[in-house]
Amino acid sequence: MINIAFVCLGNICRSPMAELIFKKMISEKNLQNSFRVSSFATSDEEEGNGIYPPAQRCLREHGIEGAHIAKQLSKKDVLNNDFVLVMDSQNLYDVLRLTGGEHGEKIYKLMSFTGSPRDVADPWFTRNFEKTYQDIVEGCEAFLNYILCEKAEHISYDKRH
Ligand code: 4NP
Repeated sequence: MINIAFVCLGNICRSPMAELIFKKMISEKNLQNSFRVSSFATSDEEEGNGIYPPAQRCLREHGIEGAHIAKQLSKKDVLNNDFVLVMDSQNLYDVLRLTGGEHGEKIYKLMSFTGSPRDVADPWFTRNFEKTYQDIVEGCEAFLNYILCEKAEHISYDKRH
């Protein structure tokens, strides 16, 4: 079992999109029982709010259903996860500030697993939810590939498939 938490600033756009996209990806590979997937905010700004409607609409256009209620990340959530996957450099800074610089070995920018490490495009500024969706798919595919290659012993997955 591998425990993964996706993290962004508000937990109403990027990280719940990543949570639902990754859940769909693993269920298509019949790996849903090998992962526990959640998402959190670094801030308390949107706590208790659902997924931002334009983000939800973008997911629906790609056949992805699901709901999420925004929740702020705590130190305990970092302890309870194997990977904390953040969306941008500010998130990385904020999570490390929360942990007092500890647990850096499990905190990664999602796009750092891709061939072109960068921040996930922030739709709060761009208003381009499709670009955010495409970045997250690229990041999640690269991360899942990393897990299947490097951490196969933690999940019931035969590399020969
Ligand atoms: P998210 O988007 O971090 O991708 O959920 C944002 C949500 C709320 C705010 C900024 C970004 N905000 O400033 O309230």
